[in-house]
Amino acid sequence: MSAEEILAKVAKEVSVCTKCELHRSRKKAVPGEGPSHSEIMFIGEGPGFHENEQGRPFVGAAGQFLDQLLAQAGVTRADVWIGNVVKCRPPGNRDPLPDELAACDVYLEAQIKAINPSIIVTLGRFSMNKFFPGAKISAVHGQMRKVGDRFVIPMFHPAAALHQAALKPAILGDFAKLPELLKQARAALGKSALAAKKEEAPREEPKQLSLF
Ligand code: URA
Ligand code: SF4
Repeated sequence: MSAEEILAKVAKEVSVCTKCELHRSRKKAVPGEGPSHSEIMFIGEGPGFHENEQGRPFVGAAGQFLDQLLAQAGVTRADVWIGNVVKCRPPGNRDPLPDELAACDVYLEAQIKAINPSIIVTLGRFSMNKFFPGAKISAVHGQMRKVGDRFVIPMFHPAAALHQAALKPAILGDFAKLPELLKQARAALGKSALAAKKEEAPREEPKQLSLF
């Protein structure tokens, strides 16, 4: 199955998923979106009000700020994949619960495996915790670390930086480093920019998903 096909299957499956309580308050699930061979994946927390209405990630206030951050880093939104650790909106934008994160992780794992990005940028504590359990975001933000076959950069959540002015310089600085970090990641992984774009995703099929 191609990466595109796997992403489409995940999207179809989350739209009717009932594996956790978040499905009860969902209007539209938000599977995430972006090219199936993106070199960079951004992983946020969960859909908010507008995302739940539209079924698309980061389309509200935090999304507008994310667009600005990407533009300032010279990264085009159309070139990257953007999604979340939970695909359905937590009621009132509360934090996702451990069992909800655990239930939804199978989808994110399938997406990461299909896209096989060089870099994953985590936005906020919940996606950071997936890769760096117990880390403090104030201590590790902006620092790229190798995790398995790729690199992960934890960053503050754009919504947090919108509400806490003190975080703004940090998030701006971290995003500004992205082009250089991408070069470093490509070099370390032995990928040229061209090869990275053309690379085929692994064909192995995630077994946990019921549709497969
Ligand atoms: N905040 C998130 O974490 N994800 C979204 O998709 C929107 C806001
Ligand atoms: Fe399923 Fe994830 Fe939605 Fe929970 S949040 S119902 S696990 S898609």
